[in-house]
Amino acid sequence: MHMRTEPATPLSLSKTKSPQILTEPLAPRDLVSIHDLAPAEILELFNLTAMLKQRPADFRGVLSGKQMVMFFEKPSLRTRLTFEAGMDSLGGSTFFVDQTASRLNARESLYDIAHNLERWIDLIVLRTFSHAEVEEMATYASVPVINALSELEHPCQALADFFTLQEHFGDLKKLHFAYVGDGNNMAHSLLLAGASVGAKVSIATPEGYTLNPVIVTMAKAIAEETKATLRIMTDPRKAVAGADAVYTDAWASMGHEQEAEDRAAIFAPYQVNASLMQLAKPHARFMHCLPAHRGQEVTDQVIDSLNSVVFDQAENRLHIQKAILVWLLGSGVGRFPVRSAHA
Ligand code: CP
Ligand code: NVA
Repeated sequence: MHMRTEPATPLSLSKTKSPQILTEPLAPRDLVSIHDLAPAEILELFNLTAMLKQRPADFRGVLSGKQMVMFFEKPSLRTRLTFEAGMDSLGGSTFFVDQTASRLNARESLYDIAHNLERWIDLIVLRTFSHAEVEEMATYASVPVINALSELEHPCQALADFFTLQEHFGDLKKLHFAYVGDGNNMAHSLLLAGASVGAKVSIATPEGYTLNPVIVTMAKAIAEETKATLRIMTDPRKAVAGADAVYTDAWASMGHEQEAEDRAAIFAPYQVNASLMQLAKPHARFMHCLPAHRGQEVTDQVIDSLNSVVFDQAENRLHIQKAILVWLLGSGVGRFPVRSAHA
């Protein structure tokens, strides 16, 4: 069920309405890629996120009886804890499986794992080396699957980031968002999210570390619909010029640690320091998904500056995660907040 499907009834999540009228997706949905959400759904998800952030008590217990399993092949601070804390505050339960010692499919096939999990559990969250593993799990499992970071995408982080930008700037269509650094999972999800919200997006990566062309093609198709402007280049100074937000990420992502030394030389011109930030607008926010490598992709001066919003981003991981859980696990009309029969 890893296909973007348009819900028959749009989610009704405006701030003026109570959570009781949330509609349920027709079929279980996955969040494997930003592309799994239609542009309008992203804005609806942001409305729900704002409600969850402003009135968390209204949502206590809405996922009572729901159970989530998380398999992580890579370390995590933010993603793990915000999913666990978020699920707990909504009344559901989490089982965390530390999968860092061996790959998820080392002992048995993903097909067999999926058909076990769907018999016991309401939602599967995966952090994997291979994006194909998340896609396979989504295809096989009849329950929703969330990508908590693969080598290709990090959709939950990018959603939290654009929600943060909406809080700081309001209309995202007027925003110039710049990313400099590796053409990695963050760059891909940010490009797709920026295209979806209709922003101007400028991305600069070194030659040899450019964006995945399939993601670029997907983003361009979304941009035609939303009228977003996408600029892909190699010059970090050109990307950042006049930007409202400047984002960077690790030069060597998890799984590429052994390349860190080689990459440090190649990526040096992409460091976000005071002189690069000076090219952006004076109010420009600095953004990073964290963990940051201070002195490499960003200087202390920039990440610790008043314009840095890295901890707002981290905080919003919790609120967006809760919105994703409520949306995917469906608190449908008339059922809210009735307990699941699954408990
Ligand atoms: N930003 C982020 O995903 O952090 P973790 O790797 O700590 O989950
Ligand atoms: N690009 C980084 C993001 C960490 C949250 C990585 O994959 O390691």
